[in-house]
Amino acid sequence: MLEFKNVTFQYEDEDFNIIDNLSFKVEHGEFISLIGVSGCGKSTIFRLTNQLLAPKSGDILVDGVSIGKQKNYAGYMPQKDLLFPWRTIEKNLWLPMELRRLSKSDMRQKSDAILSEVGLLDYKNKYPKDLSGGMRQRISFARTLLTDADLMLLDEPFSALDSLTRMSMQEWLLAQWTHFNKTILFITHDVEEAIFLSQKIFVVTETPIRSLEVISVPAGYPRSREALKEPEIIELKEYLISKLRKQVDSL
Ligand SMILES: Nc1ncnc2c1ncn2[C@@H]1O[C@H](COP(=O)(O)OP(=O)(O)O)[C@@H](O)[C@H]1O
Ligand SMILES: [Mg+2]
Repeated sequence: MLEFKNVTFQYEDEDFNIIDNLSFKVEHGEFISLIGVSGCGKSTIFRLTNQLLAPKSGDILVDGVSIGKQKNYAGYMPQKDLLFPWRTIEKNLWLPMELRRLSKSDMRQKSDAILSEVGLLDYKNKYPKDLSGGMRQRISFARTLLTDADLMLLDEPFSALDSLTRMSMQEWLLAQWTHFNKTILFITHDVEEAIFLSQKIFVVTETPIRSLEVISVPAGYPRSREALKEPEIIELKEYLISKLRKQVDSL
């Protein structure tokens, strides 16, 4: 579904390639977390994937086609919800569809449908300030779904939430993923979050990023918090923490 082929990227005001000849693949329908310490280049990978940045060399493909030739192939959800405070929830949801010039009745039908899916139909005429942090992230996720792309890029979407809200959002996200059958690439620096959510974890072990360490999570779905207590999972958690700590210590 998504493929990086020998991608190299350098920020203009830096004197090194932060992404250096990186290759990796994400398959259709996978839930993958990308973890690494703060500042290691995780978001840069997303910015390259959604063409906010262009690689110096190499190619990025979605469904085998270079992304330069495509539009609307990826939905992006940032850490901060980026909802416009002056727009109602419904009108915030219309944004990606306005860009695609859908009719008002189409937009209303789709936003109503998605609001029922995320359990927030009653809030459609409210403003972002009237919603809790968790609700706003559900709306932000819904808006990402409305881009209609199969690939969803979620950049630390829950990191600003309190820990209990965050847990229920993780469970909610897994239910959405199962329901909508999307491919999710999820950035986090939280090891437990990555383990709870993902089939595979891509670990950034060094900057410049030359490769990603790919780890399969030894647990199936539906996944419960109980799974986190299995010895294999605890071992994986310890392994990941020690990997990331080594990186922090080398900064
Ligand atoms: N526009 C930019 N110009 C120069 N350097 C940048 C720019 N954006 C980010 N960086 C640097 O690139 C590194 C990786 O950034 P980023 O991908 O946002 O990290 P992460 O998401 O892993 O925390 C950081 O050290 C940051 O300082
Ligand atoms: Mg980031």
